[in-house]
Amino acid sequence: MKTTDTDVLLDVRGLKIRYGAADAVRGVDLQVRRGQLIAVIGNNGAGKTSVIRGISGLVRPHAGEVWFKGVNTAALGAHRKVEMGMALIPEGRLIFADQSVYDNLVLGAYTRWNRERSAVMSEFDEMFELFPFLKERLHQRAGSMSGGEQQMLAIARGLLSKPILLMIDELSLGLAPKIVEQLMTLLRNLNAKGQTIVLVEQLASHALAIADYAYVIGHGKVELHGDAKTLARSPEVMEAFLGKKRKTVETKNGEM
Ligand SMILES: Nc1ncnc2c1ncn2[C@@H]1O[C@H](COP(=O)(O)OP(=O)(O)OP(=O)(O)O)[C@@H](O)[C@H]1O
Ligand SMILES: [Mg+2]
Repeated sequence: MKTTDTDVLLDVRGLKIRYGAADAVRGVDLQVRRGQLIAVIGNNGAGKTSVIRGISGLVRPHAGEVWFKGVNTAALGAHRKVEMGMALIPEGRLIFADQSVYDNLVLGAYTRWNRERSAVMSEFDEMFELFPFLKERLHQRAGSMSGGEQQMLAIARGLLSKPILLMIDELSLGLAPKIVEQLMTLLRNLNAKGQTIVLVEQLASHALAIADYAYVIGHGKVELHGDAKTLARSPEVMEAFLGKKRKTVETKNGEM
């Protein structure tokens, strides 16, 4: 795949992330085409979060290129990348627990609030169709909602930035299996309507089931990549990830 291919939305080349002297990401190449749902899987500490933080500008890459819509965005900050159409729903969701549901949603649309307020308001209605409970609880503290509802709020907030690329770090973290199923179906439906998605997910089998294509990250590198259904059947992936125990919630999100 080359950046001249107009279908390529994101083209990451040789991405390296360092924290002090520690190499967390050691040369990752990753491509996302428009309309794809890409899964990123890998063991704890493999570097998955670092990769998407590097893509989204929350950490500055030590080296590498992050081509987005044909522009190398490696040196740009997160705010600028949101304006360009990237949205990241971070690990642990990071909703503002003490603020209302409404305030959290407005924050999602902050880049558009002044210029396009009436469009944003009609998109609020779309979010309420997708997640009816948000309307009922609009003026309640976001932190009063269940973990699943908070994840849905985080997704709604992400969608309100009208992202061209929606990235989600650990969709399932701390959520009951039934809620995880609902959220996976939601992502599949959003993708079917054309939303391009990168899903970093501990539950590899769930992610591979809804994804088109997947990357397996290990020790800061891409260990494997390929068609998601093919990877799901590969003995290597099955042994390493499928049926693997979930990460406990307490270590990552004490509030849930
Ligand atoms: N802010 C930081 N400072 C120093 N080291 C960090 C920092 N964030 C992550 N690391 C280290 O970088 C490596 C990759 O971490 P990262 O969080 O990207 O992995 P991950 O694949 O998302 O893991 P998990 O499955 O636990 O979410 C790990 O060794 C981690 O300890
Ligand atoms: Mg992570």
